Amino acid sequence: MKFFIDTADIDEIRALAETGMVDGVTTNPSLVAKTGRRFTDVVAEICKIVPGPISAEVTATDAETMIEEGRKLAAIASNVAVKVPLTEDGLRACRALSDQGTMVNVTLCFSAAQSILAAKAGAAFVSPFVGRLDDIGQSGMELIADIVEIYSRYDDFTTEVLVASIRNPMHVVEAARMGAHVATIPPKILSQLFKHPLTDKGLAAFLDDWAKTGQSILGDQG
Ligand code: G3P
Repeated sequence: MKFFIDTADIDEIRALAETGMVDGVTTNPSLVAKTGRRFTDVVAEICKIVPGPISAEVTATDAETMIEEGRKLAAIASNVAVKVPLTEDGLRACRALSDQGTMVNVTLCFSAAQSILAAKAGAAFVSPFVGRLDDIGQSGMELIADIVEIYSRYDDFTTEVLVASIRNPMHVVEAARMGAHVATIPPKILSQLFKHPLTDKGLAAFLDDWAKTGQSILGDQG
């Protein structure tokens, strides 16, 4: 399973990239707005930090301008994945950009029907937003299960399921259990994945017992 980080904050990306757990980054206009920086500068900097796919979203709503914006974003670096919304115009742009060899991440997916269209449009990734479905009382993870099952039926569906709008570590675990290809994880939640109180407690006990031996691995002259 690939882990992407869902942020445009350079410091967060740099810190988490050092863990070796970061396979890509997803941004969106809201995340970029939080940085207060020029969008293309942020994308270029992220592309240098993380060699994997870096999602950068178009802001036009008509296919022709989306394609133009997508070409400009794709020219920033070879690992840019152009993000387009799952609308009719977005899928027209996806088809055109994909045909030109550009990685496209189709975002704001909320139904299995939409996910079929994204695959047919040649998307490299489809981003179903599980948290936002949960927020309105629908099951985001049931959507993931549906999409993974549908995609598994067709050899020509090469689109990867990129689980987005993740709200907690269990979204990551359930997505992995279902065989989703990618989870794009907010930095705070990725940090939570490392944590378990019994790990901390067990390590403390090991080190207490080790300290009683008076030994040092590096100081051992044997
Ligand atoms: O960046 C795409 C998606 O992960 C956004 O999620 O938290 O705004 O629902 P969220």
